[in-house]
Amino acid sequence: MNQQEWLQQVAAKVKENEENRKKDPYRLLFHLMPPVGLLNDPNGLIQYRGRYHVFYQWNPFATSHGPKFWGHYISDDLVHWEEKPPALTPTEWYDKHGCYSGSAIEEAGKLLLFYTGNVKKGEQRETYQCAAVSDNGVQFEKEGPVILLPAGFTAHFRDPKVWKRNDRWYMVVGAQTIKEEGVVVLFSSSDLRNWHYKGPIAGSCMNGLGHFGYMWECPDFFQMDDKDILLVSPQGLKPDGYRYENLFQSGYFIGEWKEGTTEFAHGEFSELDRGFDFYAAQTFKDEQGRRIMIGWMGITDEQELFQPTIKKGWVHALTLPRELVLEGTKLLQKPVVELMKLRRKETFHGHVSLGMNGKTWGGICEEASEIKVQFDELGEEKIEIEIRGNVTLLFCPIKKLFTLRRKSYKDGAVESRTCELLRLEDVHIFLDTSSLEVFINGGQEVFTARFFADPEERSIVFKTNGRANLFIQKWKLGN
Ligand code: FRU
Repeated sequence: MNQQEWLQQVAAKVKENEENRKKDPYRLLFHLMPPVGLLNDPNGLIQYRGRYHVFYQWNPFATSHGPKFWGHYISDDLVHWEEKPPALTPTEWYDKHGCYSGSAIEEAGKLLLFYTGNVKKGEQRETYQCAAVSDNGVQFEKEGPVILLPAGFTAHFRDPKVWKRNDRWYMVVGAQTIKEEGVVVLFSSSDLRNWHYKGPIAGSCMNGLGHFGYMWECPDFFQMDDKDILLVSPQGLKPDGYRYENLFQSGYFIGEWKEGTTEFAHGEFSELDRGFDFYAAQTFKDEQGRRIMIGWMGITDEQELFQPTIKKGWVHALTLPRELVLEGTKLLQKPVVELMKLRRKETFHGHVSLGMNGKTWGGICEEASEIKVQFDELGEEKIEIEIRGNVTLLFCPIKKLFTLRRKSYKDGAVESRTCELLRLEDVHIFLDTSSLEVFINGGQEVFTARFFADPEERSIVFKTNGRANLFIQKWKLGN
């Protein structure tokens, strides 16, 4: 099928699902979702000619993985988004089974996309790193492959991320070696079309890391302050205490890159998010100089198949845009300030003393709300915040653990994710109809999760087993 035919079919499919979308209580109010079908990774994040562009991996024809398109949204403020026709469709010999993940850059006024062309041949696959170009940021012309698979790697070689430093272009690609080790490889170029292979810059069994996954996906590489940061999504890490509890991880290494070389001395891997649904994050620098990250608020795992939105013809969403701030050896995540535009009405503002007149305090949360809580010097008391009878946030100062519990959407069983936390100072919660993003202590730790509560159940209950003084602010959000 050619591009025009695909676009017609996609438009028909979107239309076909219109009614379904209106009747879905779990359709999110302020997150990016596909109009129909399955969404996965955010792609090509960029501010181009002043406007923010978010592309995403999209299978419009089913709520399962399949040949991927690049869906496209544009915004002036990172809050209100306009849906555009797919930017890339799987039409060519080099991308016919999927225009896989990649990135965007601006060069000489044009918007360039770099992505992976995925081709399946029986059980085998082929992979091509491809370019596409646009004069207006909406219609793209494909230029075909710019990089073929180098020796030493399997065809799991994908997700190019391109950036410029000191007048030279660089690209990192996620890869698997023929020994089945996950790595990130570097290329460089002076003209964005001819790329020189440099070699792996980080990976399993490199730079002092032991075995660390069989495939590394979706790399991103950028500078913050005087550090170089590699973001990557490794597959194949085994759970280790409270770490790596999801099937796949998304995290970062902070280090120093000897510019132009493959030398990248880095520290430990840190997970970006401690919740259930976060993967394949990508960043970009906007015109204000902010480093903004968006992740896939989902993950490819068994639970994916049980999401109730599938009955309404769609599945998955992207996280809110989050500004990254480097503090020591930690990346803090802050919801971008523009999200304040979503506030419709303040529904609570005040001090609450738990343990004086009862150990619980409750209220109602809106269909979508923002909740900020400051904790006044907690002692040894446990704090619990129960939301909509489905998810619970729990802090235990004695064990120094913060836990998120939710009812699994597969079978209703309670499941949890935990991280170590020395002190709880504040939480900032964004609650959409079926998602939760919790920023703890100014974004030191973040938990992201989808959850599917009874749409009528809107309670929020704060509890302690002793005494606690809280300052709570709550807003009804709308878009
Ligand atoms: C990550 C990923 C990428 C790939 C894309 C395909 O979720 O597997 O590595 O490019 O999804 O949709």
